[in-house]
Amino acid sequence: MPEGPDLPGRAEPPPAADEPQALCASSDLEERGLAQVFDVLLWGQPARAFALRFDGRVVAYVNRCAHVPTEMDWQQGQFLDMDRRWILCSIHGAAYEPADGRCVGGPCGRGRLMAIDVREEGGQVSWYPSRDIRPVAFT
Ligand code: FES
Repeated sequence: MPEGPDLPGRAEPPPAADEPQALCASSDLEERGLAQVFDVLLWGQPARAFALRFDGRVVAYVNRCAHVPTEMDWQQGQFLDMDRRWILCSIHGAAYEPADGRCVGGPCGRGRLMAIDVREEGGQVSWYPSRDIRPVAFT
């Protein structure tokens, strides 16, 4: 099929749904600093997710508390408590272990955050879609 004209403003095709999705530069994620917030589709519905650096490793989760399915950051990208030790839900104070998303206190019980596979390579952070968590389709 012939390619169409290269029209000004024509959008790049979106990345294929199973390919790694570029998120940010490694240098954008400081140790226990602000998270990078991004959009995903969770079971086909729009949702927010976040990635942050903890003990040198980048971790990513759906921004959805295990207590009540609501976003947890008190300001965009602020997920850690004052001591930068726990991911803290700003609604009722559920605390999660940043390394694995496990609930460690508060009303999240035995719940845990939904992890997103994320990798860092060549100074670039990318996330990997799963069956449940898909990239947002661009139009
Ligand atoms: S909604 Fe997160 S602790 Fe209640």
